[in-house]
Parts: sequence; structure tokens; C-alpha cells
Amino acid sequence: MMPHTHKLLFFAGSAREGSFNKKLAQLAVHIAEANGIAATFADLGDYPMPLFNRDLEASEGIPENARKLRALMQVHGGIFIAAPEYNASVTPLLKNTLDWVSRVRDEGEPPLQVFKTRVFAIASASPGRFGGVRGLITLRQVLAVGLGALVLPEQVSVPHAEGAFDEKGHLKDKPRQELVKTVVGKLARAAKVLHGEG
Ligand SMILES: Cc1cc2nc3c(=O)[nH]c(=O)nc-3n(C[C@H](O)[C@H](O)[C@H](O)COP(=O)(O)O)c2cc1C
Repeated sequence: MMPHTHKLLFFAGSAREGSFNKKLAQLAVHIAEANGIAATFADLGDYPMPLFNRDLEASEGIPENARKLRALMQVHGGIFIAAPEYNASVTPLLKNTLDWVSRVRDEGEPPLQVFKTRVFAIASASPGRFGGVRGLITLRQVLAVGLGALVLPEQVSVPHAEGAFDEKGHLKDKPRQELVKTVVGKLARAAKVLHGEG
């Protein structure tokens, strides 16, 4: 068993400064820590990768940042992704990152191990009135169908995101803030069950 698999990893599918989805992921980190759950926030902006291309992969290999991010995923049992919606789908940043990480494989290791052995929770925030929920349909498909991951059925979407957070970064809508807490708590419990630390 990998060390620290009881910990949760949080990241957003946006590297934008002032990203609403980063805010949502950071709120989830705050909620996790307030409830005694060890949490790590990663900014995908710190893991830049070129646009995936098999010729590039063949000539230059897998980017170091894809290996680094996978290593980070490996020491966390559960992963929370706050994903913006671009044209009813996921952002190119998130898809490109997942595509590269899906190519990292140690010798003798079955494909997609890091996805198949972790549990995921998904969330979204958008200035729009649907809160990016349509992008989560795509993200769920990519994670569960494409990458073989276990994805919790509960998810959170934050509409009208520009006015949704208070000055402390909490959601003004209390039931929605509670839903983030519920999802984070369930993610932590599911990760423990999956990794036999329950
Ligand atoms: C190319 C593009 C497509 C977008 N498509 C959608 C969309 O389909 N639905 C939506 O709610 N917002 C859409 N948006 C707006 C994003 O939700 C908004 O830019 C949001 O702030 C992105 O998340 P972030 O704040 O975490 O960077 C789109 C934005 C861009 C740049």
C-alpha cells in the first residue's frame, strides 16, 4: 500500500488567477482540514504540459510534470476536482493533464492504475446559472468510463460564481456549503474503505 493514502488531493481544472474553481477547491481543502482530514491543494498551473501529441510523446517522452502529478496522486487516496465548464465540456487544461497522466506507467504496471485505485469527487463553479454542471457530465464520463475511476455520485455545482463566495471564501448559500462538506466527508470515507484504512 502506498503511504498517506488516507489524504485527499484537491485541484481545479483552471490555472487562472482568480479562478472560481480554484476557490471552490480551496474551500473544500479548508472544510477537509476543519474536519480533521489531511488535504493537499495542487495548482495545475504549477504542472504545465505541452498539448498531447503521440509524435511528441514518442520523440520527447512523457513530460516530467505528468510524472510529478501522478506521483502526487499516488500518495492521496481520494481526489477532488473542481472543473470549469467550457462549451458544455471540460477545459483543455484538465483534459490534457488527464491525458498525459493516463500515459504514465511504470514497467509491468497495468494501464491507468492511479485512476483505478483512487476515488474521485467532482465539482464545478461558473458565472452561468447552471454552475458548470454540464461539464461535469463530461468529466464523469472521462474519469469513470475512460479512466476506470470510481467517482462519487454526489457532486456540487456553484452557479453565479462571481457573487457566490463571501470574503472568507465560504459559499454564501449555506445548503451548498453543507453539500461541499458532505461530498468531502464522503470522499474521505470512501478513500479509507478503498485503501483498507477504515
Ligand atoms: C472557451 C470558453 C467556453 C466557456 N463555456 C462555458 C459553458 O459552456 N458553460 C458555462 O457555464 N461557462 C462557460 N464559460 C465561462 C466559464 O465558466 C468561466 O470563464 C469561468 O470563470 C471559468 O472557470 P474559472 O473561473 O475556474 O477559470 C466558458 C469560458 C470559456 C473561456
